[in-house]
Amino acid sequence: MRIVLLGPPGSGKGTQAARLVEKLGIPHISTGALLREAAAQGTELGLKAKEISDKGELVPDDVVLDMLEERLHQPDVKAGFILDGYPRNLAQAESLEKVLERIGQPVDEAILIDIDAEQIVQRIAKRAREEGRADDTEETVRNRLRVYAEQTAPVADFYAQRGLLTRVMGDGPIEEILQRILSVLNIEHGND
Ligand code: AP5
Repeated sequence: MRIVLLGPPGSGKGTQAARLVEKLGIPHISTGALLREAAAQGTELGLKAKEISDKGELVPDDVVLDMLEERLHQPDVKAGFILDGYPRNLAQAESLEKVLERIGQPVDEAILIDIDAEQIVQRIAKRAREEGRADDTEETVRNRLRVYAEQTAPVADFYAQRGLLTRVMGDGPIEEILQRILSVLNIEHGND
C-alpha cells in the first residue's frame, strides 16, 4: 500500500505514520526526517537545508526530490510506503507522480489530517519544550503555517482531482485518529 500523509505542521503526520508502520509493516519516509538526518551528519547539503528549514521555508524542490528518489529506490519500498512531508507544493506533487509511475508504485491513498491552528500551536509549543527542535520556535512555526497555507494546502486538490483524497479529523487521542485512518484504508483496528 502506498500512502501519502498530508496536513499542517504539528497535525500528527509523523505520529500516525509511526503507528501505521507497526500496523502495516511498510516503511515511513519523512522528507523532514531525511533532511534533519543529513544536517546531523554535517553534509554540505544537510547544513544548507537546515539553514532554510530553521526559517520555516521550503528546501529547494530539486534537493528534496533527489533525496527522496534515492530513498524510493531502496528495496524495502517494494512493499509500499507511508510518505510524510512530501509533496509540499504542486511541482513536487507532479514530480512524485512521475517518479512513482516510473517505478510502478502509484499512490493508493492521500490522507489529510485536519486540525485547527490553536491545537497546532499548543502541540508544537509542547514539543519545543520537550525536544527543542530548531524549527519549533514561535516565529518559525508562524512561517511554517504560512508556507503550508500558501504552497502545501493546494496539494490536497491535486489528489482530490484524482479521487485519492480523504480528510481525517486530527483532534482527539492518537489511537482514535489512527482508527479513523485505518477505516479510510479499510483495515480493521485490532488490539495487536
Ligand atoms: P517536517 O519534518 O515534515 O515538519 P512538518 O510538516 O512541519 O511537521 P511536524 O513534524 O512539525 O508535524 P507532524 O504533522 O509530523 O506532527 P507530529 O506527529 O510530529 O518538515 C520540517 C521542515 O523540513 C520543513 O519546514 C521544510 O523546511 C523542510 N522540508 C520537509 N519536507 C520538505 C519538502 N518536501 N520540500 C521542501 N522542504 C521540506 O506531532 C506534533 C506534536 O504533537 C508531537 O509532539 C506529537 O507527540 C504531538 N501529537 C501528535 N498527535 C497528537 C494528538 N493526537 N494529541 C496530542 N498530541 C499529539
